[in-house]
Amino acid sequence: MTMTKIAFFDAHSYDRDSFEMWNKDFGFDIHYYKERLSMNSIELTKGKEIVCVFVNDEISAQVIDALVKNGVKLVALRCAGFNNVDLPEAKGKLRVVRVPAYSPHAVAEYAVTLMLSLNRKVYRSTQRTREGNFRLSGLLGFDMYGKTAGIVGMGRIAKVLVNILKGFGMNILAYDKFPDMKWAKENGVKMVDLPELYANSDVISLHCPLTHETLHMIDKDAIDMMKPGVMIINTGRGKLIRTEDLIQGLRSHKVGSAGLDVYEEEAKFFYEDHSDRMINDDHLALLLMMPNVIVTSHQAFFTREALQNIATTTLQNCKDFLDGKELVNEVMAK
Ligand code: NAI
Repeated sequence: MTMTKIAFFDAHSYDRDSFEMWNKDFGFDIHYYKERLSMNSIELTKGKEIVCVFVNDEISAQVIDALVKNGVKLVALRCAGFNNVDLPEAKGKLRVVRVPAYSPHAVAEYAVTLMLSLNRKVYRSTQRTREGNFRLSGLLGFDMYGKTAGIVGMGRIAKVLVNILKGFGMNILAYDKFPDMKWAKENGVKMVDLPELYANSDVISLHCPLTHETLHMIDKDAIDMMKPGVMIINTGRGKLIRTEDLIQGLRSHKVGSAGLDVYEEEAKFFYEDHSDRMINDDHLALLLMMPNVIVTSHQAFFTREALQNIATTTLQNCKDFLDGKELVNEVMAK
């Protein structure tokens, strides 16, 4: 029996380790490529029935037509977000599956990691003490207790986050386009509109998907409505924030700090080592220099448990497709 071939793009050693381990239970013939899927790498999909992609692969209309021509039938996203797939174009040509929830805990805990690191300036104090500087000036933080967190998008990740933040004794405001009022009431969360959330939150954390509505939702107008010194955390998608306006907000001190695990133009940099060259992106270079900003490389998901769930769910999605079963994790254009 010939094994079904999977072209696996943007593969790193940790992906390979995890997928190889769990693929023992499935037996796919996985071809790992370090390239991202785009028209430049499309040749690699020839003879493969399935492509497995991540957050920065580009599944545009042109790529979809080329995939179909090469015999690909399934796009298996090994992530939750699917903003990088042209779903209307894929309709009727290719099926698309994803991993809807590999570990909401991983991302929620990471959002809190960014909040606490920024607030208590752990990265600055670590650098200082390594140099033998044990002074405290410049390291002043605030109690999380009694402050207000504003959560945008009250889905799986945000619900875990709310329970962690409530443990600190924070007040929670939230906005969701499709609010779960029952959950909010049971968990002491006040659902509000965005202007009210912006005006009253000390910390704002973004957990909604990137859509045409949420693109650049954090722009100058939104920042103008916020409390002076607000902390903004983004573990959602880079394009939720208009970076230029965030930088302006940081410069004017309207925004006190920002923790960014995602960045508008991350596809050019994230997951690769650029330490031997200039960062050829003025906005990113500026953010990296600011003492009140933390930029990390889309790593909020990166825990052992999440990697296991990503591998097993992705491989099960592929098996269900081949077995002609219902695809419970399918995404398609409405
Ligand atoms: P989810 O689907 O459970 O929750 C998303 C929530 O956003 C839903 O409650 C939905 O009603 C709401 N929403 C939809 N449109 C909205 C709008 N226009 N305005 C406000 N709210 C809106 O998703 P989950 O699992 O909580 O993930 C949230 C996002 O986090 C994903 O879409 C993805 O972009 C990002 N993510 C980032 C990761 C990382 O490693 N940094 C890892 C996993 C997800």
